[in-house]
Amino acid sequence: MSRLAGRVAIVTGGAQGIGGATARRLALDGAHTIIVDLNEELGIQNVARIESDGGSAQLYLGDVTKEETATGMVAEAMSRHGRLDILVQNAFPVGEGTFGGGVTGIDLEDWRAAMSVLLDAVFLGAKHAVPAMQESGPAPGFDAVPYGEYGLHEGAPPPMEVGRIVNMSSVHGLLQASGVPAYDAGKAAVIGLTRQMAVEYGPTGITVNAIAPGHIITEKLQKLWEEMSNPAGYRLFELQYPVRRTGRPEDVANGVAFLCSSEASFITGVTLPIDGGHSVQLQENLVVEMKDFIQENAGLKTHFDEWGTDLRRR
Ligand SMILES: NC(=O)c1ccc[n+]([C@@H]2O[C@H](COP(=O)([O-])OP(=O)(O)OC[C@H]3O[C@@H](n4cnc5c(N)ncnc54)[C@H](O)[C@@H]3O)[C@@H](O)[C@H]2O)c1
Repeated sequence: MSRLAGRVAIVTGGAQGIGGATARRLALDGAHTIIVDLNEELGIQNVARIESDGGSAQLYLGDVTKEETATGMVAEAMSRHGRLDILVQNAFPVGEGTFGGGVTGIDLEDWRAAMSVLLDAVFLGAKHAVPAMQESGPAPGFDAVPYGEYGLHEGAPPPMEVGRIVNMSSVHGLLQASGVPAYDAGKAAVIGLTRQMAVEYGPTGITVNAIAPGHIITEKLQKLWEEMSNPAGYRLFELQYPVRRTGRPEDVANGVAFLCSSEASFITGVTLPIDGGHSVQLQENLVVEMKDFIQENAGLKTHFDEWGTDLRRR
């Protein structure tokens, strides 16, 4: 049997990119998947793709910064499908509007708008999903972890396998970059909130984890790199990764699916980097190792150039 059969999942920002691949992965693993997104056209396309691959999905149109979206998507799961097992909080408009220099270059309104999608949405989604998960109880077909097999136990087994929440952070939540104060602070806060919720809801059988992807070539980023039309600039990115490639949305989707499965019952509060080793390497060595490549490719260009990240300007 598929490992998520009988479960109901919500994936925010599931119309495209990482969320799109995650919605497909969870549906392929047997979960009925509710894609929550602002983009109706791409949402419908992803649902059709899932259905043509034999999965079950639907689109719930909504803006995750609004509380009515959080209540509505959870109500959709509970009233139409009778349960909620998985919440993947991934929505964020990548490439739109959070690049304003340091804190001196971003005004309060933009800061709040960024925090609203980066952090408020994660709070709101969890606030309304947790009671629904608790009401749903253990998912059907969950491979209950044997209790009493190891160690010394007293009393009834604790609630297990009740719900799974996976929040999308970033390597920007682990390592900080110049020019993106709201994004970096928001993604670090997602990790903090994930850890707090893991502690808070672990006793009720819900696990809460975060994922920190490296550079993932989504449909949008593929287009940006194609427009840049500078293969050496792209190679510069690949060379920064110990595995010598950037990521695919499926790489992240596979990690999410694992954290949502029975196999991950004893994993909570962690931030899983899915970054080809990017966040574990020593930076000063990397810079020195890349020196020759940079010197040999005088016309290097990346789309980061347009976001004003040339350190000589600061
Ligand atoms: N692509 C990367 O390299 C990368 C790296 C690290 C982390 N991430 C994180 O992964 C997540 C997904 O990134 P992506 O590159 O796939 O993004 P994307 O822009 O390709 O897709 C994001 C989806 O979210 C939806 N969305 C945006 N704002 C929304 C809102 N307010 N309400 C509902 N839906 C909304 C968009 O319509 C879109 O379908 C984000 O949280 C991002 O910060 C991405």
